[in-house]
Amino acid sequence: MKQVHLTQIGDPPASVDCVEVPALGEPGPTQVLIDVAAGPINPAEILLIKGEYASIPDLPAPLGIEGAGTVRAVGASVSSLAPGDKVMILLRANWSAQVLADESEAIKLPPGIDLQQASMLKVNPATAHLMLRDYVDLKPGEWVIQNTANSGVGTSLIKLAKARGLKTVNIVRRESAADYCRELGGDVALTDGEDLAERVAEATGGADIRLGIDAVAGEAVIRLASCLADGGMVVNYGMLSGKPCMMTTDQTVFQSKQLRGFWLAKFLRGLGTEGTRALYAELAPMVESGAISVPVEAAYPIDQIKDAVAHACREGRGGKVLVLPNG
Ligand SMILES: NC(=O)c1ccc[n+]([C@@H]2O[C@H](COP(=O)([O-])OP(=O)(O)OC[C@H]3O[C@@H](n4cnc5c(N)ncnc54)[C@H](OP(=O)(O)O)[C@@H]3O)[C@@H](O)[C@H]2O)c1
Repeated sequence: MKQVHLTQIGDPPASVDCVEVPALGEPGPTQVLIDVAAGPINPAEILLIKGEYASIPDLPAPLGIEGAGTVRAVGASVSSLAPGDKVMILLRANWSAQVLADESEAIKLPPGIDLQQASMLKVNPATAHLMLRDYVDLKPGEWVIQNTANSGVGTSLIKLAKARGLKTVNIVRRESAADYCRELGGDVALTDGEDLAERVAEATGGADIRLGIDAVAGEAVIRLASCLADGGMVVNYGMLSGKPCMMTTDQTVFQSKQLRGFWLAKFLRGLGTEGTRALYAELAPMVESGAISVPVEAAYPIDQIKDAVAHACREGRGGKVLVLPNG
């Protein structure tokens, strides 16, 4: 059976390999055996390969934070899943032809869902949903501002905000990405820059914006915070600039602006099995209907993992790069 391994910490394409491992065999009583259809290569995976994520795994380590597939066989005590069911996999080793998961680690999906889109459900739509829901109690008609708005998280956030009657200011780093955000329904889309606060105030008619969502860190946090009303909050969830988050003391002390962090993995641990199922039961129908969808720029068979990872590292992509463990 083919599986992708992280063989060393370092340069992403050079540090991953598709290897042959023994077949997994029959599921244990509480387990399900899943044929994995697809899994995206997310920025977190690249950070993990480079040794810049939350922790460094023992090597060699299987990779693939997200994935979705079809149940092939179930153990004797499994009651909620049956062969043929489509599932989203909570395990973090999905770039593999098959996985064995405990019943609680496989979330049943609607039968009509597209498995490539479903493979991107666990991380980005959930992250966008929770950051919009849990930090500032925004009312319909209010604004939220985010950077990296053309990313998987950002595009989900545009659609989720619209569904809640919220308006979005979308900050990107190139004009073509701003056009894309407007096409998706973003109310305002601007490129990042020093005069951001003035341009945002002009575009929103001086609206009070209470929530800013940041994946860039560094000085981008100062610029995002400068667009917020006094007392507003920046929720940071990424470090694409590679720099620590920055805010000025004017912002924190005199304007009472706050900075919080969000990490989905920790949030899901706190939810437990039933809470996690409820979260995805809310989001999966939006993926099934196409209300949330992320463009796919390329899909690679598992044995081309080095090319796939190199592709995922490119700037200015038009969508996600997927790994297809079963072709
Ligand atoms: N904390 C959490 O739980 C959590 C959960 C999900 C995602 N994340 C983080 O969210 C971020 C986005 O993830 P994703 O999967 O949505 O991304 P994605 O779809 O792969 O897109 C990457 C985005 O990052 C932008 N970008 C890359 N480097 C940048 C830089 N130096 N400055 C500004 N923008 C930059 C890209 O812009 P171009 O298109 O112009 O190249 C693109 O918009 C990542 O940092 C990821 O680690 C965190």
